[in-house]
Amino acid sequence: MSKRSFLREFFKANRMVGSVIPSSRFLSKKMLQPIHFEQAKVIVELGPGTGVFTKELLSKMSANCHLVVIELNDAFFHDLQQKFQHPNLHLVHGSAGDLTTILQGFNLAKADYILSSLPLSNFPAALRNSILEAIKGNLVAEGKLIQFQYTRGLKKLYGAHFKQVHIDYTALNFPPAFVYTCTNS
Ligand SMILES: C[S@@+](CC[C@H](N)C(=O)[O-])C[C@H]1O[C@@H](n2cnc3c(N)ncnc32)[C@H](O)[C@@H]1O
Repeated sequence: MSKRSFLREFFKANRMVGSVIPSSRFLSKKMLQPIHFEQAKVIVELGPGTGVFTKELLSKMSANCHLVVIELNDAFFHDLQQKFQHPNLHLVHGSAGDLTTILQGFNLAKADYILSSLPLSNFPAALRNSILEAIKGNLVAEGKLIQFQYTRGLKKLYGAHFKQVHIDYTALNFPPAFVYTCTNS
């Protein structure tokens, strides 16, 4: 999908898409930095859009790791279907809010890492909190939520669901982005 098509989807559903262009490779690198690929068995990606992070995850994950990717937007989902074929990729056209049912449907264990690009600060508080609780409940004890946002001021929000919140930053993205890595261990 082109940058122009991404922009079109933004204007159709800007609160849900949350960005005017796909993330940069620099942000992608930051998002994948906390992942120990040799140990990860299950990775979940929420809100892949055009698949900037999906492509990197597929190229780095080990042969016995499963990647579950959940996208709500019709156009992005169909584009991802065309773009990516991999025996351990489970591409779902659905909502991150249904994470528990989706993982159960694949008979997969809890996730080692959940990468999220969801524009959570645009979501109504009840939806945001229920998604964060579903994420927490579907991570292994040492598991990590890796979430990017365009603002630094969300430590309290993530801290209400996770014991530890680490914030990283990259200026090499439009807009510049903050990467929140959250754990409960
Ligand atoms: C800011 S875009 C990020 C796209 C891509 N990961 C990137 O970084 O370029 C957010 C994505 O989340 C998707 N999204 C929004 N709400 C969602 C939900 N409830 N479940 C799954 N995906 C959702 C949007 O359709 C969009 O693709």
